[in-house]
Amino acid sequence: MAKAARAAKVEHMCTGCGFRTSRWLGRCPGCGEWASIVEECAAPGAADAVAIDRVPPESGERLSTGIGEFDRVLGGGLVPGAVVLLAGEPGIGKSTLLLTALDRLARQAPDRAVLYVSGEESLAQIRMRGERLSALSPGLLLRSDSSVADALAAADRLGPLVLAVDSVQTLHVAGLDSSAGSVTQVRDVAARLIEWAKRTGTPTLLVGHVTKDGGIAGPRMLEHLVDAVLSFEGDRSHAYRILRACKNRFGSTNEIGVFEMKGKGLEEVCNPSALFLAERPRGSSGSAVVAVMNGTRPLLVEVQALVADAAGGGSARRTAIGVDSGRVALLTAVLERKQGIVLSDQDIYVNVAGGATLEEPAADLAVAAALASSFRDVPLDPRTVILGEVGLAGEVRGVTQIEQRLGEAAQLGFVRCILPESNARRITGAPLELCGVGTLGAAMEALLT
Ligand code: TYD
Ligand code: MG
Repeated sequence: MAKAARAAKVEHMCTGCGFRTSRWLGRCPGCGEWASIVEECAAPGAADAVAIDRVPPESGERLSTGIGEFDRVLGGGLVPGAVVLLAGEPGIGKSTLLLTALDRLARQAPDRAVLYVSGEESLAQIRMRGERLSALSPGLLLRSDSSVADALAAADRLGPLVLAVDSVQTLHVAGLDSSAGSVTQVRDVAARLIEWAKRTGTPTLLVGHVTKDGGIAGPRMLEHLVDAVLSFEGDRSHAYRILRACKNRFGSTNEIGVFEMKGKGLEEVCNPSALFLAERPRGSSGSAVVAVMNGTRPLLVEVQALVADAAGGGSARRTAIGVDSGRVALLTAVLERKQGIVLSDQDIYVNVAGGATLEEPAADLAVAAALASSFRDVPLDPRTVILGEVGLAGEVRGVTQIEQRLGEAAQLGFVRCILPESNARRITGAPLELCGVGTLGAAMEALLT
């Protein structure tokens, strides 16, 4: 028989320095403060379990980074003691974003320091970047460290409003055999920073480099240790950058923040659709937009099709880039059979813009729409996004993760979605106008007339 639950164990902690004691004391032996010791329930993981209603609620207090797009992705700002990993490829702009946010945080709280520990760059280099970004708040304190112990000792002395470490791969824990950046080192460095953040209640931002394959260099496991993982992405040959929450214990992971890299730093993009659609041809046929999922992340992609009379009497050309050619052949056949769009004597080129790939059947309807649009030479509405799998009978089948796709499309300024009827029926409170279709014919009617 299980024993009856014991009463939750009560502990006491100093609100000033975090000193713990089992009984209440008038003066904290840790920092000497009077009346600073308060009762608190034992932390989860302690020997005794805590009744759910005895757990002190999270204060709900958020610290704004001063950057709206950043706050949005965080779920409304930084949470006390939360550890946020800012991940991205080298050169994408992590340090730029970080420095901008830290400068604005320092401005908000002139009486508190904001501590930026860099193991990557010299203080002079950071100052130079600060000049470029107009981020030279005197409350922003810099340190160049390679030892996590030194960095945390300094943080203990300063009691900063926010601690930032750029990057977690450049710090090391003394006494470990391996060198900075190795899996063991990164894990131990992160563990110490996390322990410190939790103990002091200080929001802590860690920069982490990701490798080409998308893993956070050294260890993917960092993702499991921190409270939030924000991934900073973008094509370096283009100016826009997207900040996404891949994990967030304090907010939704559907939010994205969009920035543009300018000569004087990152600018928030308040109307991202303008940026994303900037390179799309206006009013020309053969272009359709679909929201695909990359793992758990929605991404809007433009599919382009060009259908032209095959030159000469030879066989028609078929070229597909970024989408399976077998899939294109299938859709071509269905369009021909069900819609009377005869493509067998046409050259067909399908391309997914920006080097993206379409691996999901959910992109079928958009590919078919691009083909039909080019064939008929009727442009599609540029603010309509198209979702749906197309079956051989010309039926439009449901897709998964519809809310994320719609959310992404709405955020990027799309106002209408052509989607499978089966999905449309189940959605309430969609962020954009929905047009459910059961067949390819119904979709073509909604799109091309
Ligand atoms: P950086 O923040 O150093 O990237 P990361 O920390 O992710 O490695 O930014 C790298 C690039 O950003 C760099 O190639 C130059 C460019 N940049 C600008 O275009 N404008 C700016 O104001 C700054 C500071 C950088
Ligand atoms: Mg950097």
